[in-house]
Amino acid sequence: MAIKMVFGNQKGGVGKSTCSYLFTLLLSLRGYKVLLIDMDKQANSTHWLINTFNKLHLLNENTPTIQDAIVNEDFRSAIMPLSENVDIIPNGKDLDGIDIFLFKKLGDENHPAFNFYLRKLVSEVEGDYDFIIWDTPPTQNTYTKNALAASDYAIGVVKCETSSLNGAKDFQDTTVTLGKIMEAIKLKPVQFAGVIIYLFSSQGTLRKEVVEDIRAEFGELAYENIIKARDRIERYTKTPLDLESKLDHHDKNALKMYEELLDEILERMGIHNENRESKSYSIF
Ligand SMILES: Nc1ncnc2c1ncn2[C@@H]1O[C@H](COP(=O)(O)OP(=O)(O)OP(=O)(O)O)[C@@H](O)[C@H]1O
Ligand SMILES: [Mg+2]
Repeated sequence: MAIKMVFGNQKGGVGKSTCSYLFTLLLSLRGYKVLLIDMDKQANSTHWLINTFNKLHLLNENTPTIQDAIVNEDFRSAIMPLSENVDIIPNGKDLDGIDIFLFKKLGDENHPAFNFYLRKLVSEVEGDYDFIIWDTPPTQNTYTKNALAASDYAIGVVKCETSSLNGAKDFQDTTVTLGKIMEAIKLKPVQFAGVIIYLFSSQGTLRKEVVEDIRAEFGELAYENIIKARDRIERYTKTPLDLESKLDHHDKNALKMYEELLDEILERMGIHNENRESKSYSIF
């Protein structure tokens, strides 16, 4: 069964999609089979990941998306294979109708199954993967909650701003609340596994204060490894990471931060890479 993890914060622009995208790639390079499910209609991680494999031409109005997977109650037919180790269920259509779809199906938005709909659907494909990663929108809507209820681990992403800290707290609260509901119905509860601190600017005492606030708020849940601003990471939104050619030192420096953070995330989950084939592609 796959390990399912969801990155979240109801605040926008904090690094959720970048983490979802890069951790999907880095896990795949460690030999794991990974499915990224993009729950955000902005479809950022959809574009970055598909572009990385030079398959953007496959994305058009007929491409099955997460919306189709939900409405057709079939995840498998919406999976787009990108490489031996990477698959994606893309986004790109308006998700707003899905609340209505669930309402029609279940008759009541307070129906206990409202947040558990995707859990059932993803269980039909999870046997094919080592990891499933959910990228979520900057709001705690039905899709975020469904992703949480279908996950083993939730990871908050916090940009060094007070509003982002509050957004991550809300994401943690939602995770804990859903976890309790899951426990009550005898499901393994989603666990709030940690908080990624994202430092978009290294300057300023205010930023340092916010880092301290984040560590004070989340204690040991805040990961030691901090992600810093790197032009190269922002560049991947336009020019994707080129896995075929040799990476230059800007790529290596930027990716090293995410590699080290990924090590910490996996270690904290008690996941070790030992019985995996060695990295099929070494980025260092
Ligand atoms: N380490 C980094 N260095 C520089 N820029 C970064 C870094 N990580 C992310 N960015 C850039 O910051 C912007 C916001 O990141 P991202 O899209 O991952 O955030 P998000 O939380 O998913 O946003 P949204 O809530 O809108 O979906 C993007 O342009 C991204 O390229
Ligand atoms: Mg995003």
